[in-house]
Amino acid sequence: MFEDKVKAAIANPQNMGEMADADAIGTVGSADCGDMVRLFLKFSEKDGKKIIDRASFQSFGCQTAIAVASMATEMLKGKSLDEAQQLSAEQMSSGLGALPPMKIHCGQMVEGALRAAIEGGADTPAEPRAGTDHGALAGSLNAGTAVSGKIKIVDLIETETEKS
Ligand code: FES
Repeated sequence: MFEDKVKAAIANPQNMGEMADADAIGTVGSADCGDMVRLFLKFSEKDGKKIIDRASFQSFGCQTAIAVASMATEMLKGKSLDEAQQLSAEQMSSGLGALPPMKIHCGQMVEGALRAAIEGGADTPAEPRAGTDHGALAGSLNAGTAVSGKIKIVDLIETETEKS
């Protein structure tokens, strides 16, 4: 059962918590459910390639997101950035079986946080990246970066300027 697998995963979540010495950080929020996932990556070098040495996460959200993030951070250890970038939400949540339709976005948030970390933070040690890493979902929404789909961010000042 899906619920039992989620319960088992969150009973002992792996790699939960902020990583003070992270090399990359990615944050994604969902405007629909109000949840947010932040992923931290620490890199090392192997044969001239950047390898994910450690990964951790913070989740201000539902149990499914915590379960997927926990599994994903385990899965990411030892992967090159190219390999990590190939990982889909389905692969990261495979330990839970197929996600119910209402929970698919939970896995997608983890995938989004991973992509944000890899694309935005690979060469930026522990610096929150403008536009992708904010202290709160509201900050992400205001920046217009963490939301996909149903919300259109309109800059009111620009709109007023356009009118005049
Ligand atoms: Fe939104 Fe799970 S319900 S992340």
